[in-house]
Amino acid sequence: MLFRQLFDAESSTYTYLLADERTREALLIDTVREQVERDLNLLKELGLTLHYVLDTHLHADHVTGAGLLRQRTGARAVAGKKGAPCVDLRLGQGDVLELGEVKLEVLETPGHTDDSVSYRVGKRVFTGDALLVRSAGRTDFQNGDAGQLYDSITGVLFELPDDTEVYPGHDYKGHTASTIGEERRFNARAANRDRAAFVQLMGNLNLPPPRKLKEAVPANLACGLTADPRPDAPTT
Ligand SMILES: [Fe+2]
Repeated sequence: MLFRQLFDAESSTYTYLLADERTREALLIDTVREQVERDLNLLKELGLTLHYVLDTHLHADHVTGAGLLRQRTGARAVAGKKGAPCVDLRLGQGDVLELGEVKLEVLETPGHTDDSVSYRVGKRVFTGDALLVRSAGRTDFQNGDAGQLYDSITGVLFELPDDTEVYPGHDYKGHTASTIGEERRFNARAANRDRAAFVQLMGNLNLPPPRKLKEAVPANLACGLTADPRPDAPTT
């Protein structure tokens, strides 16, 4: 399987490219609207055909590139069962998406948002903001629920084998990946903490709202196909 981790420095978002090396069919997870040209160039250079653009959840901190990529390539936009209304395909717990030899399984991991899912592909799991390297996504907006997030992390993700590689939706400290075993031991929010203590911790983070909250949520409900107020915005 061809696998790439891409990064958007402005929003600290990771985008993942997965493709079957033989059939050249590809999918992207958690794209960023401002990086659509980068992603299209990479697909072209590598001779890949984009079939699916997946989001792990309705993002509040960046605008998805799913709608633009769908327009440009004919790929189908995919999300969890409670994901954005604009998507073509909604997947629930245990659903599998196949692309040649690539088999992607959906794990419902709500709590950061109520629509959050993780995608497991072989020994890798793409956790969105449910589980970050040594951290976990905030739960104070978009129907977030700290208790539900604790259950998703400890009851779903931590049940995966210890050597499963964790690929998060963001990182702000320079990490790129981790493993389930590492996070079970070292995760600063969830490791060695019971449900009540986790809920208390998440309720006292006092984080400022994401800079793009007001723009990103409505845009992402339309797969990113809304007017972009920036003067250098892509015109496609
Ligand atoms: Fe998020």
